[in-house]
Amino acid sequence: MKFKSALLFKTVLILFLPFLIVLISCKHEPEEIVIVDPIPPIDTIPDGLSCDPDTVYFRNDVLPLLISSCGMSGCHDGSTAQEGVILTSYQSVMNTAEIIPGNPGSSKLYEAITESETDERMPPPPASALSTDQILLIRKWIEQGARNNYCDAGCDTSNFTYSGAVKPVIENNCKGCHNAFSSSGGVRLDDYSSVKSAADNGSLFGAVSHQQGYSPMPKGGNKLPDCTIIQIRKWIADGSPNN
Ligand code: HEC
Repeated sequence: MKFKSALLFKTVLILFLPFLIVLISCKHEPEEIVIVDPIPPIDTIPDGLSCDPDTVYFRNDVLPLLISSCGMSGCHDGSTAQEGVILTSYQSVMNTAEIIPGNPGSSKLYEAITESETDERMPPPPASALSTDQILLIRKWIEQGARNNYCDAGCDTSNFTYSGAVKPVIENNCKGCHNAFSSSGGVRLDDYSSVKSAADNGSLFGAVSHQQGYSPMPKGGNKLPDCTIIQIRKWIADGSPNN
């Protein structure tokens, strides 16, 4: 009996040894990192990657605006999805916001942002309505076919003024979540002095450059382009002037 169980033990050991070895050696392998791009691939743009001033580009202009004005938690992010509408990627915008390419007037998204009844308008009060320019941008994008397009704006790191480089980026990518009505994380970024205080305490750069210890921003969106992050860093290094 004793002999039999010893044999059984040996057989089991021999059978499972390869698995054991694999198991042990796996422990020393670095963990596999799977990068999932939340945004689907970009359309091929026939007329090259450089920006045409008369074209509205979804990924450059429209998506950041939708994420920061509508796609926040509690509204139209993937987990809240008020009225089934999700405004955080091209796919979700096209699938849930009833966009009719070429026809803004029949598109639910456009109707919602231009609604004259204040309590039905999006974003709803107390948030303010989108600006005329922002509404025009979305209108033009739908008129031009509501494509998932992108262009390389040829960002220039030698331009790092507040008005020319920092402010437009914050207005389109951050302000919707960081203003008087919705100061996410207690942070406001809706005027020069609030942006300056985030710059001074290190959280602005920490958040946009995804440094450890800071919440990566823009929340729910793609990391800002490297060039933009360099512009912000240079502006901060310059003393964050109101220039
Ligand atoms: C969709 C909403 C949303 C957008 C867009 C957004 N934020 Fe935030 N932000 C938040 C929330 C919510 C927090 C609180 C922390 C958290 O929940 O991650 C936060 C926190 C922060 C903080 C504090 C971070 C810390 O760790 O101390 C800074 C700074 C910040 N955001 C800057 C930005 C900047 C700059 C942008 C644009 C490039 C931006 N945010 C875009 C929602 C947003």
